Parts: sequence; structure tokens; C-alpha cells
Amino acid sequence: MKVTVVGAGTMGRGIAQVFAQAGNSVILTDIYPKALEDAASSIRSSLERLFRKGEIKENIDTILQRITSTQELSAGSDSDMFVEAVIEKVETKESLLTQISQIARRDAIIGTNTSSISINQLSSFVTYPERFIGIHFFNPVPVMKLVEIVKGERTPESLVRKTFEIVKALGKDPVISQDFPGFISNRVLMPMIREAILVLEEGIATKNDIDKTMKLGMNHPMGPLELADFIGLDVTLDIMEVLYHEYGDPRFKPPVTLRNLVNARKLGRKTSEGFYKY
Ligand SMILES: NC(=O)c1ccc[n+]([C@@H]2O[C@H](COP(=O)([O-])OP(=O)(O)OC[C@H]3O[C@@H](n4cnc5c(N)ncnc54)[C@H](O)[C@@H]3O)[C@@H](O)[C@H]2O)c1
Repeated sequence: MKVTVVGAGTMGRGIAQVFAQAGNSVILTDIYPKALEDAASSIRSSLERLFRKGEIKENIDTILQRITSTQELSAGSDSDMFVEAVIEKVETKESLLTQISQIARRDAIIGTNTSSISINQLSSFVTYPERFIGIHFFNPVPVMKLVEIVKGERTPESLVRKTFEIVKALGKDPVISQDFPGFISNRVLMPMIREAILVLEEGIATKNDIDKTMKLGMNHPMGPLELADFIGLDVTLDIMEVLYHEYGDPRFKPPVTLRNLVNARKLGRKTSEGFYKY
């Protein structure tokens, strides 16, 4: 299969890698040459790590040769599938999906990796929206098994089944969600992170004890506060804002402590401080 991945950031580079690992020919595009350069070196080091761990057996250069990096989206015009992984802004995705619609084959699948924007809303930017679907990977893509397949009102069952098989062929384990804010993952996760922050705010327990409770008592690999730091507190806040706005339900309302940390640019691991110091 020939796949074009648009956006070579954190997610796009991982998505390009897993498609190439599974034997597909990949075009990776971005508007910034620097993003493409960084993606190439990060894909190489990720493959080297997986090779050392014995998780891939194939020659790394053979896998890398399947990926073509380019700033020209049109290089992917004959692709069987597009995966859009540009920044989480409706206007950016609108302009990109319009461009993809213009160059894509009529029978190509057009997928979006959005974590919070409605698939139905994005489908309105795609001509022939019956070829459009949500394909939500998790970070880090080469490691995380889960992919949420998100079905919009205009996504036919046949496309859901086809995408399911494509995802399985990547060695991933898909789940299917209807197009509701937060899909399955963030809908369930965000109220838990929110509640953990409120337990901290109300002085009921220390951050270490909150995280320890969920790790040792519920068998979670990371506690909710650690996980929020890992996701990025800005991203966590954005997702909560979307859920709160869409559902209007206080169980998604962002806590003040979260907002304060984001305003102080304590964004978690990426800035070396969030709920914890790194
Ligand atoms: N980071 C995560 O943990 C995560 C997890 C799941 C889903 N997502 C979703 O994946 C998408 C990408 O997120 P990310 O974290 O990789 O973002 P990112 O900021 O790391 O990367 C986005 C890339 O898109 C590029 N870009 C912007 N406009 C473009 C355009 N018009 N054409 C081509 N490239 C363009 C940017 O240069 C950048 O390299 C978002 O929709 C996000 O919600 C992110």
C-alpha cells in the first residue's frame, strides 16, 4: 500500500515509521524542512532502539528506504491512503483536508489523527466524505498498541472494516468509537485526571500518594498526575476545555491548579516541571 502522512511532528513521524515497518511505501510531508529532518533522525533512532531490543528483525535501512520525505503534498497524489497529523487547529486541518481532497484518488482513504476535533466537522472539508475516517494513534506511536477508529455520520461500515484491517496489519490493536468528544480514551481518562487534581487541591492526599494509589491499587502503569505530566499539561487542559465546552458537564471542568501550572509554563515533562520536577 502507498500511504501519505501529512505532518512530520511527534505523531506523524511515528505513524510514518509504523507504516514503513509493516512494508508500506510512505510519503512523509511537512511544510517545514526542519520537521522533516528531525523526523528522519528520530525515526532512525527509534528503529535502532527497536532493533536492539529484538522487536524488529528487518534491516533498518530497508525500512527507511520505504519513506520519502518531501514538502510537496502532491507527491502523494496516487496514494491508497492519507493520514493527516498536522497541529490540532481546525483552520489548519480545513486547509489541508481541502488540498488532500483535490489531489487524492476518488477511492483513497483519508484519515485524521485528531484527538479532539469532531470527525463530522472535519468531514465537511473533504469532498466525497464517505472516504473519511478518524484513525487516532497514541504517543509514542511505535510502542503503543491502541488505535481508536472513529466513525463519523458519513463513514460507511465498509470503510470502518477496511481501516480495522489496515490497523491490524500494522501490528496494532484497534477499537471502534462513534464520533463523540473525547472518543473512548479521553472521555474516560480526563475525568480521572481531573479528580486526581481535585484530590490534590483539596489537600486530601499528596501527589505521590494519589499516583501510588492508582498504580498499586488499580494496576495502572502510571498514576494520573504523572500521566498528565507525560501528555503535557497544556494538551491536557486543551482536551478538558473541549470536553467541557462540548458536553457542558462539570465533570470535565478544568481545575484551577491545572490552569495555574499551564499559565506558569509548567507543562510537565517537556518543560522539566509540571506536577513533578524532571
Ligand atoms: N502528541 C500526542 O500525544 C497526540 C496523540 C494523539 C493524537 N494527536 C494528534 O495528532 C496531531 C498532530 O499532533 P502532534 O503532537 O504530532 O503535533 P506536532 O506539533 O508535533 O506536529 C505537527 C506537525 O504538523 C506540521 N504542519 C503544520 N501545518 C502543516 C501543513 N499545512 N502541512 C503539512 N504539515 C503541517 C508542523 O510543521 C508539525 O511538524 C494533532 O491532531 C493531535 O491532536 C497527538
